[in-house]
Amino acid sequence: SLIPVILAGGKGERFWPLSRKQRPKQFLSLDGSGKSLLQATADRLLSVAGGWDKLWVCTSKILAEGVKEQLPELPVENLLVEPEGRDTAPAVAWTTLEIANRYGDDTVVGFFPADHWIADEAAYKQILEDAAKLATQKEAIVTLGIKPNQPSTGYGYIEQGEAEGTFGKSLVYRVNRFTEKPDRETAEEFLATGRFSWNSGMFVFRAGVVLKELAIHASEILTPLKEQGIAAYSQLPKKSIDYALMEKTNLAYVIPAAFGWDDLGDWNAIERLLKGEQANVELATHVGMDTQGSILYAEGEDEVIVTIGLEDVVVVRDRNVTLIVKKERTQEIKQVLKKIQEDP
Ligand code: GDD
Ligand code: MG
Repeated sequence: SLIPVILAGGKGERFWPLSRKQRPKQFLSLDGSGKSLLQATADRLLSVAGGWDKLWVCTSKILAEGVKEQLPELPVENLLVEPEGRDTAPAVAWTTLEIANRYGDDTVVGFFPADHWIADEAAYKQILEDAAKLATQKEAIVTLGIKPNQPSTGYGYIEQGEAEGTFGKSLVYRVNRFTEKPDRETAEEFLATGRFSWNSGMFVFRAGVVLKELAIHASEILTPLKEQGIAAYSQLPKKSIDYALMEKTNLAYVIPAAFGWDDLGDWNAIERLLKGEQANVELATHVGMDTQGSILYAEGEDEVIVTIGLEDVVVVRDRNVTLIVKKERTQEIKQVLKKIQEDP
């Protein structure tokens, strides 16, 4: 078994204006289920954890109240609140230190993003069990690899090495190399070899193994946290665990995972999730003439969106903001946000 930690401190900027500073993507329900992504993640992990007392969440101060509202059953001592977000390497380092203090170095820990969609929960749980078995038996940092279908630049890429053997029901491989968010050209080269998978963003390991690896590869993060605790936080480098550890460690393993996965990175994910045979994805009352391939969203019941002659656009109306963007350019929302001084 393993202690699951949900990383819920991200901003989800590419879903703006639906995601705002105090209400980021993980607090939203994007699949029409009524449950937020964070709540769905917690639900999924509860049975893995074996109860609320074994589930942890790490988030930033500005989101802590929202997390408590969304997960009222989460024990306060399992909610780690960062004074500010410093990306995932500090979050992983701090949480792992706390878990090692409470339950010991041999505890198997799993880190999980708060914003993923998983299709086959039974297969997902089986793979996590197998990953925990591997992490118990080996000095291993276990990743779950997703079969890539396009040279996306938004993911980490894992090059599969030699087979290590079977753990539970999973065939496990060594990782030759981990490359976080390569450029397009590199991603295309990776894909052409057939040896790479996408990093799902979930990691499983023994607390002590990762603390040892962080001491070697990311002491600028681990040492201040060990010496000063949370007081060190605002001085820590802003770095993701992918750059700080995964690109450097020799202890990485990968389990090919085929449970149906989407990281709901931007508005196009909504289309992958919800689009059936219809011309558009309509999350509002939409009156369209000659409109196709578009995503239309409005907050509130009596909102109407009317379009004529549009193709492949995203229209989002949320309170005081209307966003209109070509579907292929939704990644650039991050950049345009830099031009908006205050989050309106
Ligand atoms: N506590 C905390 N603090 N959580 C954070 C912080 C932080 O400062 N920053 C991000 N998170 C949370 C996010 O809420 C999300 O659940 C998770 O950590 C991953 O962060 P993202 O910012 O979404 O990472 P990414 O999508 O760019 O890249 C990662 O995920 C990809 C798969 O979705 C990497 O691991 C990639 O290699 C991977 O392919
Ligand atoms: Mg992400």
